[in-house]
Amino acid sequence: MCGIVGYIGKRDVAPLLLEGLQRLEYRGYDSAGIVIAGRSGGLKAVKAKGRVRELEARVPKRFAGTTGIAHTRWATHGAPSDENAHPHLDTEGKVAVVHNGIVDNASELRAKLEADGVVFASETDSEVITHLIARSQAVSLEEKVREALKVVEGTYGIAVMHADFPDRIVAARNGSPVVLGIGEKEMFVASDVAALISHTRQVVTLDDGEMATLKADDFRTYTTSGTRTTATPETVEWEAASYDMGGHDTYMHKEICEQPEAVDRVLRGRIDDKFSTVHLGGLNLDAREARGIRRVKILGCGTSYHAGMIGASLIEGLARIPADSEPASEFRYRNPVVDPDTLYIAVSQSGETYDVLAAVQELKRKGARVLGVVNVVGSAIARETDGGVYVHAGPEVCVVSTKCFTNTVVAFALLALHLGRIRDLSVADGKRIIEGLRALPEQIQEILTQEEDIRKLAADYAEAKSMMFIGRVRGYPVALEASLKLKEISYIHAEAYPASELKHGPLALIEPAMPTVAIVPDDSLLEKNRAAMEEIKARSGRILAVAHRDQEKADHTILVPKNEDELDPILMGIPLQLLAYHTALALGRDIDKPRNLAKSVTVE
Ligand code: AGP
Repeated sequence: MCGIVGYIGKRDVAPLLLEGLQRLEYRGYDSAGIVIAGRSGGLKAVKAKGRVRELEARVPKRFAGTTGIAHTRWATHGAPSDENAHPHLDTEGKVAVVHNGIVDNASELRAKLEADGVVFASETDSEVITHLIARSQAVSLEEKVREALKVVEGTYGIAVMHADFPDRIVAARNGSPVVLGIGEKEMFVASDVAALISHTRQVVTLDDGEMATLKADDFRTYTTSGTRTTATPETVEWEAASYDMGGHDTYMHKEICEQPEAVDRVLRGRIDDKFSTVHLGGLNLDAREARGIRRVKILGCGTSYHAGMIGASLIEGLARIPADSEPASEFRYRNPVVDPDTLYIAVSQSGETYDVLAAVQELKRKGARVLGVVNVVGSAIARETDGGVYVHAGPEVCVVSTKCFTNTVVAFALLALHLGRIRDLSVADGKRIIEGLRALPEQIQEILTQEEDIRKLAADYAEAKSMMFIGRVRGYPVALEASLKLKEISYIHAEAYPASELKHGPLALIEPAMPTVAIVPDDSLLEKNRAAMEEIKARSGRILAVAHRDQEKADHTILVPKNEDELDPILMGIPLQLLAYHTALALGRDIDKPRNLAKSVTVE
């Protein structure tokens, strides 16, 4: 999705902004642009369809200045092109705007502006904001922006420059993240800390309805109606180095390999051996309230929805509270009955996914209690929820989620254990789960050592046009997630079904050219899973099993170490991340930036 970065200070701005744009590349984009305040006055802009390196190639040698804003665009209104790339300048070239989000009433505003003689240079919704600011008769830039935003409906994170006010950048937020980076006599603005973290770790996150004025040695924040707000900079914990590839060929590979440490981080400081439970500081849910929960509804999208499915089975199993997971995008459109005794949990790696955020807002409006299971500290969903559990996976740069999926499931295991121990889970079972959790990092490491074998298998399966993934109960979300991973990066068609559903239809697809990946844990359903493999073999289907012991019916078995039944899904997903990765690699795919996908889906 779109990215913003801006700078005001003493340094040469163009290289800083281009570096910031590169750090935002992971979000997915189709064009980029930059505008600076030239030393001799006036704004100078360059835009390019394609990658940041194409923009860089177009930036002239003499492009000097110390204030500028830049953008990576993900097309919503108008195709990817030079013209539609941001920043958008007004006809006189005095005002420049970069915008994330969607202006819902853009066509209406555009028609009015065109009737007044404004000539648009792009097909975007964003350009209306530029012209509204340019036409405002207000005296200050802040007032001009405020006036313009009064008539804009929709979501925005914007940064604005004006040739008549070269000493400042004005930013505003409504539904699209905006962070300010506070430096020594220099200030940054960005849509994501990734763009500024190599320069400062002191950040201020704007709230919806908040604006900011950045000058080189000062910043102030205020509401869109002009009332001053207090903003105390917070220190970002993530290291700038977390955004580097650290010797790996892709971010995905790095993030798969980081999982032992990531899991260690989500557990750190939370286990309470005395009471065989865990402490979750930010939950804001006391024991009495926890006992009063009658249902749990988990909401997320994509991988987070799948992590929520495993979370639901952990909560149901350990805390004995009925629980389920639903795509947030569906939930919010079916006018759900909101029950005061239900605990709602919003799951999101980025904490920005629009559908999840909108579901949270709808629930809050109806008086529900909503917790968040989120990776990005201080993100929109983290701020909007009543409390929650951070998953502490560290920044995830690859568009496809791996370590965040694993850490989210572990965070759910912690929450389930916590709720369970407040309710009816015995000390012995609490201990058993804690031991299982503690064993995870080493067991993940053990799986990672099989990478070479998995790579060989992947080279073989990469020839398939279509693949089936099956599992039962706890294994089914693992199958769903593994099939999503394969689709996302290899573009091989994949289906995921509960193994029990095979004979109700999908068995018709089975033939030698359609291999099946079967999730076969050593649990009470082992025989049932074996029977499903038997059915596939009888139709000459090839099988790759992920199991705790060799499976006779399978053509290949990837062995994973056994943990507690409840925690096995965490381990069973890991070899399948490697399988998707090496399949995509064998097919020569752009692993970190798969086609048509973006890291954070901040629009509907
Ligand atoms: C994961 O591989 C996907 N890229 C996607 O399904 C993602 O999980 C989904 O868009 C939700 O994102 P979130 O966790 O940041 O809310």
